[in-house]
Amino acid sequence: MVFKEILNQEFLKSIESEYIFDNAPINRFIKNKENGGTDEKLAELKSKIKSIKDCELKKFAKNIVFSDGNPNSQIMLVGEGPGEKEDAHGKPFVGDAGILLNKMLNAIKIKRENIYITNVVNYRPPNNRKPEISEINRYSGFLREHISIINPKILILMGSTAMESIFGQKLKISKERGKWKETIINQKTFLTILTFHPAYLLRQPDQKKFSWEDLKNIRKKIDELKIKT
Ligand code: URA
Repeated sequence: MVFKEILNQEFLKSIESEYIFDNAPINRFIKNKENGGTDEKLAELKSKIKSIKDCELKKFAKNIVFSDGNPNSQIMLVGEGPGEKEDAHGKPFVGDAGILLNKMLNAIKIKRENIYITNVVNYRPPNNRKPEISEINRYSGFLREHISIINPKILILMGSTAMESIFGQKLKISKERGKWKETIINQKTFLTILTFHPAYLLRQPDQKKFSWEDLKNIRKKIDELKIKT
């Protein structure tokens, strides 16, 4: 390659141009990784979870339930695990708890499709039982990697299972909900809030008033951080 061509290539690399201008009729487009490799990293994580061995959850589940929403969002929400409908559709929060979650998000002017949603465990626990602590711990590595990939400005943990996955069993959600915490995951700090899970609110509607306080608190933070919702 002549010196001038090398210089041109260096220049194109330095401005991260998506196009090469030369005389060739084809191959003018250099395919850049669309969102900093997020899609590729998510696909890798999903296939890593799919290859999990000796898992009582995976054994009985129909589908992996990996995530829903916008992987480029600055808001990430974590639930517990798929129920029957989620297992059937391969998508989180599409059953009754999902209907309530959508209402909760609407109430603070968040469009569900603008945030990123996942669960602690990615396969439905048989009979919708709570995941066992060993299962929570096993999937916690995946969840932490998931959070690192999405790299949200706000992390919303819904319910005690999500809380246990990130903070262990030492906390009580009734005490800790609604407080902003700084969570370190893979050497990065994430602004995190714990709040009640919508399935719990369906069982205990008298707790909705606390949930509403948390939602308003989340909205306030979104506005402070100028996050698009
Ligand atoms: N409950 C959850 O925690 N996640 C879902 O996806 C559905 C119900």
